[in-house]
Amino acid sequence: MKPISSGSPLLQVRHLSVGIRKGRTYLPGVDDIGFQVQAGEIVGILGESGCGKTLTALSILGLLPPGIQVIRGSIRFDGLDLRSLSERELCGIRGQDLSMVFQEPMSSLNPLLTIGRQIAEPLRLHGRRNKRLIEGEVLDIMHKLGLPEPVKLAAAYPHQLSGGMQQRVMLALAMVCKPKLLIADEATTALDMSTQAQILHLLQGINRDLGTSILCISHDLGVISRLCDRLLVMYAGKLLEEGTVEAVFADPRHEYTKGLIGSIPHKEWKGKPLLGIPGKVPSIEEKPPGCPFAPRCSKARVQCTLRFPDPRHLSADHRVCCIGETEYV
Ligand SMILES: Nc1ncnc2c1ncn2[C@@H]1O[C@H](COP(=O)(O)OP(=O)(O)OP(=O)(O)O)[C@@H](O)[C@H]1O
Ligand SMILES: [Mg+2]
Repeated sequence: MKPISSGSPLLQVRHLSVGIRKGRTYLPGVDDIGFQVQAGEIVGILGESGCGKTLTALSILGLLPPGIQVIRGSIRFDGLDLRSLSERELCGIRGQDLSMVFQEPMSSLNPLLTIGRQIAEPLRLHGRRNKRLIEGEVLDIMHKLGLPEPVKLAAAYPHQLSGGMQQRVMLALAMVCKPKLLIADEATTALDMSTQAQILHLLQGINRDLGTSILCISHDLGVISRLCDRLLVMYAGKLLEEGTVEAVFADPRHEYTKGLIGSIPHKEWKGKPLLGIPGKVPSIEEKPPGCPFAPRCSKARVQCTLRFPDPRHLSADHRVCCIGETEYV
């Protein structure tokens, strides 16, 4: 799927397919997706568990685990073809211009090192040597991310912090080199509602004040709708719908997107049943040909089971991969 094009994007992913080795074959974890992120934009990837969100993020960072690899496609970031870079060249970009925060801060933080030392690490890795300047930058980013009493906190260890505070530290670590793009993979999922709201607020602040583009990955429609300018709806490795948050919420066109939006509780629907989506996501081994959502789709036709449809442009900033009401050609 080609991305919607407008200007020269900061990140451009084209026809990306990621394979998971099973015996002699590769199963499609991500299947021919394309999208872009403009400078200063916040883009969300929305999808149920197992649909390929994290594999997409790890492909961009060049951090796929053994047995999983990019089979096809191109990933351009800030004018560079990331797939053609050596591991050494990628290391020069990761943490510097391109960084990531994950869901579980405790599994990413080193329990044996102080917070200050860990936030300073990306600066050291990317060649900063002046101790006083490093210290200044660490305290500055801690301050910007609302970490209280930065000097005292810098001397603390991860286990002394709450989950929300640990996630702020992870953000400080990801942001200390002022990257152009931050990938946040379920960065608020493990947090309670009020801490989640604080982290979302911080991400908005990072985007507004530092100009950082954000690729926000979540299975939570509420998180995506509050934070993002644009969203991509993924299902079983495929991109089904893409558009501005306003356009997609006002007029969702894929039956899957309609089901997702219909399953959010809303005060006007008090007493009425939630729509929900019957059935379950196909496992990667038993993914059907054609549109992977067809077996769960009440509007599916025979054509849907034969071939995955090309994207239809509904407007300049909204498109869908569904034959919908149109005649099949
Ligand atoms: N290390 C791995 N080994 C084997 N299969 C994997 C591995 N990582 C992911 N997969 C498979 O690849 C598919 C996509 O996984 P991915 O982690 O990208 O999903 P996700 O959308 O991030 O899900 P979640 O919301 O649960 O994080 C899934 O079917 C998953 O089981
Ligand atoms: Mg994931």
